[in-house]
Amino acid sequence: MNFSAAEYTRQVQEAAAYIKEKLNGRKPEIAITLGSGLGDLAEQLTDAVQIPYGDIPHFPVSTVAGHKGQFVVGKLEGREVLCMQGRFHYYEGYDLKQVTLPVRVMKLLGIGTLIVTNAAGGINTGFRPGNLMLIEDHLNLTGENPLIGENLEAFGERFFDMTVAYDREYRTLAENLAAEMDIPLQKGVYAWLTGPNYETPAEIRYLRTIGADAVGMSTVPEVLVARHCGLRVCGISCITNLAAGMGEGLLSHEEVKETADRVKVDFIRLVTALTSRM
Ligand code: 6GU
Repeated sequence: MNFSAAEYTRQVQEAAAYIKEKLNGRKPEIAITLGSGLGDLAEQLTDAVQIPYGDIPHFPVSTVAGHKGQFVVGKLEGREVLCMQGRFHYYEGYDLKQVTLPVRVMKLLGIGTLIVTNAAGGINTGFRPGNLMLIEDHLNLTGENPLIGENLEAFGERFFDMTVAYDREYRTLAENLAAEMDIPLQKGVYAWLTGPNYETPAEIRYLRTIGADAVGMSTVPEVLVARHCGLRVCGISCITNLAAGMGEGLLSHEEVKETADRVKVDFIRLVTALTSRM
């Protein structure tokens, strides 16, 4: 995909206009991108409206069978939220402008806060599968960036700051809520690699050396675009497994799904509480 900035902007606008029409005057303030195995949070919304990605103009067409891909807009603890049940990953073959199109759309819908969640492998030796990790910062090791190309001035500046990409106030709030609710919450740095393979043990040793606590295949492109257009970001990883070479066995998507399923109750409690207090 290599559209001009004007053409891409028009696509974002058309997608946003379609969603607005479906929302009938409802105005979500908070968006929540749900990671692998964490999609059930969307089932908690009341007065929910579902908008399948396939119905939205210019949205990428999902190739993965049986993979839910929709926005769910509804009320969570009295707040109007928009959940992404299913996201686009770079390893699926979408380019990063497509992967991050929903974030631009969120901005046009008037959303001010983005909660990003994901399943990630634990690199920090103090982490255990099933831990939740508050994302304090990230590493982009891919050499890729969704903001390469002509800058969309209407959304943000060419050169923008990433000193506090993950909002400080939200980080404090998440830590306080987790403590109040007795939910163990680790914190650390999330490293993004493209996937689709899990890493080698040598790559994991390297990542630990350079300061990564967790590794995954998503989130960073969305956070870059969110910060470019001034959305406040809060990130939570579910550590579904230890990274390569750290545990006994081999890594599998089955383990990722099983752990996410086991942790989702605490995950939903924490994100719900966060939403109500943001
Ligand atoms: Cl170990 N690596 C990556 N890249 N993504 C993951 C993971 C590991 N575990 C869950 N998601």
